[in-house]
Amino acid sequence: MNITYYGHSCFLVEFSGTKLLFDPFITPNDLAKDIDVSAIEADYILLSHGHADHVADAIQLAKQTGAKVVSNYEIIQWLGREGIENGHPMNHGGAFNFDFGKVRYVNAVHSSALDDGTYLGNPGGFIVSNNQHRFYYAGDTALTMDMQLIPRYGKLDFAILPIGDNFTMGIDDAITASDFIQCNKVLGVHYDTFGYIKIDHQDATEKFKQAGKELVLAEIGSTVDL
Ligand code: NI
Ligand code: MN
Repeated sequence: MNITYYGHSCFLVEFSGTKLLFDPFITPNDLAKDIDVSAIEADYILLSHGHADHVADAIQLAKQTGAKVVSNYEIIQWLGREGIENGHPMNHGGAFNFDFGKVRYVNAVHSSALDDGTYLGNPGGFIVSNNQHRFYYAGDTALTMDMQLIPRYGKLDFAILPIGDNFTMGIDDAITASDFIQCNKVLGVHYDTFGYIKIDHQDATEKFKQAGKELVLAEIGSTVDL
């Protein structure tokens, strides 16, 4: 499956021909300044939680692409107030069959509010699946025992996990998360963007390798096949 990385926790998955864009935060990200946001196409935009570093470009991209936005109930209500009518609200533990496959909104341990105090529900992650593929995007989260539930929904092809520490799991906990979800192929996100979350790439990939796992750290703007 092709995944294009737009920096931080923003990436586009080409899922059986449908373009799924996650957590758009591009224009405020200095590391992603070469990305042309106006050229991004998406059929769906999935938002894990309501922090600015996950939703900064959501309104613009929803308008530009006409994509349906999938997120928690409170985020979809907020987008509605901002003029984005094409939303699909979910909440934790629920799954829904879209035209490309099933999306399940799952637990994350984190927070979810805009800087102005706007309450944007509780943070989550997603399992996306159809009869050929399945992947898990954890969103921003701590390592949590709830991750042991993820493989009960079926074998994952790959997972997208935050690895930057400070605001989310760091490398060591991401390796444990990889055990919990029974998936050894991980695309790392949520690192390097801010001073608090700078990581040593070589050290991170080496730690995964020593645990018998693969950590992919994609160049911003590049497309990787997972
Ligand atoms: Ni966050
Ligand atoms: Mn974040």
